[in-house]
Amino acid sequence: MEVIICQDEEAVGAYGAAKVAQIARAVGPSVVIGVATGSSPLSTYANLAAMVHDGTLDLSDATAFALDEYVGLPIDHPQSYHATIHRTVTEQLGLDPARVHVPDGSLENLQTAGERYEAAIKAAGGVDVQILGIGANGHVGFNEPTSSLSSRTRMKTLAPRTRADNARYFDSIDDVPIHCVTQGLGTILDARHVVLVATGAQKANAIAAIVEGPVSSMFPGSVLQLHQYATIVVDEPAAELLTMGAYYKHVNDNLPAWQRLDV
Ligand code: PGA
Repeated sequence: MEVIICQDEEAVGAYGAAKVAQIARAVGPSVVIGVATGSSPLSTYANLAAMVHDGTLDLSDATAFALDEYVGLPIDHPQSYHATIHRTVTEQLGLDPARVHVPDGSLENLQTAGERYEAAIKAAGGVDVQILGIGANGHVGFNEPTSSLSSRTRMKTLAPRTRADNARYFDSIDDVPIHCVTQGLGTILDARHVVLVATGAQKANAIAAIVEGPVSSMFPGSVLQLHQYATIVVDEPAAELLTMGAYYKHVNDNLPAWQRLDV
């Protein structure tokens, strides 16, 4: 695991985007990017969008796969993840909407939503770089605590904490759906690289647990300890409960030139 501690949220977005762009440039314009909703990756997307617009990053043939979707929200509902990803990713990065995929959360054919999504990811050749946020309870995607560490895309029931956290986007907590379809932890592990971004003291406990705690389904993001190329980019408040923060900074201060990111 590579842990990058940045001064503030702005620096997290700059570093997260530089890391994703480095991987995307190595793959080429047909890169497959895994994208997340939530507030955490927004500054990463803004930095990536700036690179696309100034011509230093070519995503003209890119494909994107979102992590998750609510069950039962019409896709044109402003809080559906279809709509959210369209607003925050597809439009900003200038992606072809036909190549931006979001799990099918419609009630019809829900039983097959997971296997259809897994097949679509496979048909695209797999995800080259997965952008992740993390929930305060340690979830990645909507893999709530006790999710199987080898799970694949399927329906899940949102944890009360997640519904409470996401109620800010709805008129009332009662409007937050109860179920979702989410990539599994096994699906996320299959991405060739993972870049997780987190900011703020409300994420400090989850970050300490997934980076330095045991691999445990009680903090689903801890499964990333099993990933060969996982980069965790956090600001100082989100890093405050890490016991080895000085070491992570020491590692990054002493990276050989060929491993250094130009941020
Ligand atoms: P946030 O959500 O980025 O809005 O904090 C993250 C998540 O719940 O995965």
